[in-house]
Amino acid sequence: MKTDNWLQHSVVYQIYPRSFKDSDGNGVGDLQGIIDKLDYLHDGTLNSLGIDAIWISPFYPSPMADFGYDVSDYCDVDPLFGDLVTFDRLVAEAHRRGIKIIIDYVPNHTSDQHPWFIESCSSRDNPKRDWYIWWDAKPDGSLPNNWGAVLGGPAWTWDEKTGQYYLHQFLKEQPELNWRNRDVRNAMLDVLHFWLRRGVDGFRMDVIAFLLKDPELRDNLPNPAANPNLHPDDIYGRQLHVYNEDLDEMSEVIREIRKVLDQYDARIGIGEVWYELDRWVRYFGPNGDGLHMPFNFKLMQKPWSAASIRETVESLESALPTFGWPNYGLGNHDYPRLASRIGQAQARVAAMLLLTLRGTPTLYDGDELGLENGIITPDQVQDPQGILLGAERTRDVARTPMQWDRMPHAGFSRAEPWLPISDDYQRRNVEAESKDPASVMNLYRTLVWLRRQTPTLQKGSYRTLVQNSGDCYCYIRSHEGEDLLIALNFTHKPHEIDLNPLKEGNIILSTHMDHSGPISLSPLLLRTDEGLLIKL
Ligand code: GLC
Repeated sequence: MKTDNWLQHSVVYQIYPRSFKDSDGNGVGDLQGIIDKLDYLHDGTLNSLGIDAIWISPFYPSPMADFGYDVSDYCDVDPLFGDLVTFDRLVAEAHRRGIKIIIDYVPNHTSDQHPWFIESCSSRDNPKRDWYIWWDAKPDGSLPNNWGAVLGGPAWTWDEKTGQYYLHQFLKEQPELNWRNRDVRNAMLDVLHFWLRRGVDGFRMDVIAFLLKDPELRDNLPNPAANPNLHPDDIYGRQLHVYNEDLDEMSEVIREIRKVLDQYDARIGIGEVWYELDRWVRYFGPNGDGLHMPFNFKLMQKPWSAASIRETVESLESALPTFGWPNYGLGNHDYPRLASRIGQAQARVAAMLLLTLRGTPTLYDGDELGLENGIITPDQVQDPQGILLGAERTRDVARTPMQWDRMPHAGFSRAEPWLPISDDYQRRNVEAESKDPASVMNLYRTLVWLRRQTPTLQKGSYRTLVQNSGDCYCYIRSHEGEDLLIALNFTHKPHEIDLNPLKEGNIILSTHMDHSGPISLSPLLLRTDEGLLIKL
C-alpha cells in the first residue's frame, strides 16, 4: 500500500478552538472565529503564515468536563462553537484557500452524558450495557484492578444503581467504549463516514492506542523508575502500562479504521501515540496500512540540548520503516508552552529545526508568536488535570487565548475570555509582530514559505554533519544536486565550528533575521542562540 500522501509535503497548524478567535462575544473561541482568521493562516500570499492544513481540537456537543474531549454527540457541533452549517462553511472556505481540514476524533471514551452511556447505565441487561466496560467489584468490594486514570485518581467509578464499576482512564466523566463490541466499532466507524462525507481531509485520533485493553483486565506493574515526587493521586504515573494500552491487537483496529479512510480520496489518519520508537513505528501498520502519521512527541519530551535533539532525530530516522515518514511537533494543548520550556531565544532555533527537518511539522497556535505559559492563579485553574493533580500540572497555561492585537482582550473577544490573556499581549500579538521584520512570527512565516518553495526542504534526504562543537547540531538536506546546511547553536554563547572540507556557502536565513549572503564555513561562526540555513 502506498503511504505517499499530502501530509508529507504539508505544514500542519493545530487550533485549540476555545482559545483561537471568539466571533460572538461570549469569551470562548468558535468556528466562525476560525473562518475569520483563515487569511492569517493562508491567503495565498507571503503575507500569511502559509500553512497547508489545520487540525482543530474537538468542537462537538460536550458538557466540557475535559473541554470537549468528553463528547456527548459525535455528529454535531456544540452551540458554543457554532453549528453544522458553519462547519460546512469552514470546510468550503478553507478548501478555497487550499487549506486541508483535520478534525479530532475521540474514539476511546464518550461523555458520561452521551445517550449511549445513559442507556448503558440504565440496567445490567440494557442492549448498550456492553458498549462500555463494566466490571464487578472484587469480593471485598474493592476496585476491579489497580489501574490509574491519566488525569488523576483510580480508573474506576462505582455505579450505585447497577452495582458495578465502569472504566475511565481519563475523567470519571469520560467512560471508555468497549471496542471489542462489534456494534460499538460500527457506530464509531460510522462517525468517520459522517465527517468524511462532509469533506474533512483527515482525523487526529485521540489516545488511539487505548482502544483495546487486556480482556482479563490484569493489574499493571509498578514502574520502578517513576518520579518519587508525583502527586499522591497520580496512580497512572507510577505504573508500567502493560495491560491498559498499546496492546499488540491494536494493529487490527487501526487497519479497520484505515480501510474506512481509503474508501475516500486522499484522506489521512494521524494518531496520538506517545510510546518509545520500537512500539511507535508499529502504528504505520506492517505494510504501511495503518496510520499515515503517528504523532511524534519526542521534541517536546527530550532535554533541549544539541546532543539529545540530534540523537532524537537520528534514532527516528533509523527506526522508520521504508514506507514510514517522520514528523515533528514542538507543542500542543497538553504541554507547557515551547517559549517557556526552552526560552525565547532558543524557541527561534527550535522553529528553524522544526521547519527544516525531514518530516511533517505541526505547529501549535500561538507558538508562532512566541507565546509563553499563561499565568494561572490556583483559583483560576479550569483544566481537570490541574484540579486533580495540583495547579502546577494545569494545562491551562498553554491554552490562554491567541493574541491578535493590542485592543482589549487582545482582539480575541469582545468579552472577558474564558482564560486570562497574558500580560505581554500589547507587544506580543499578530498585528505588532507583522510589523517587526525580525519578530518570531516573521521567522515562522519565512521558514514556512521557504519550506513550501524549496523541494529540498520538503523531500530532500537527511544527513547529520559531524563537527567539533558538541553545543551545536548541523545537518544537510539534499535533493537533486542541491545541498542545504542547517547549523543550530543550542547555547547562549557564540561558537566556531570547523566544517572542513566545506569551504563556503550562502546564508539563506539566520534566526536573527538580520543577514544573508556569502559566509565562510572554515570555520563557521554561529552567534549566540543562532540557527543558520545555508545553501552550499
Ligand atoms: C488527549 C488529549 C487531551 C485529553 C485526553 C483525553 O491526550 O490531547 O487533551 O485530555 O486525550 O481525551
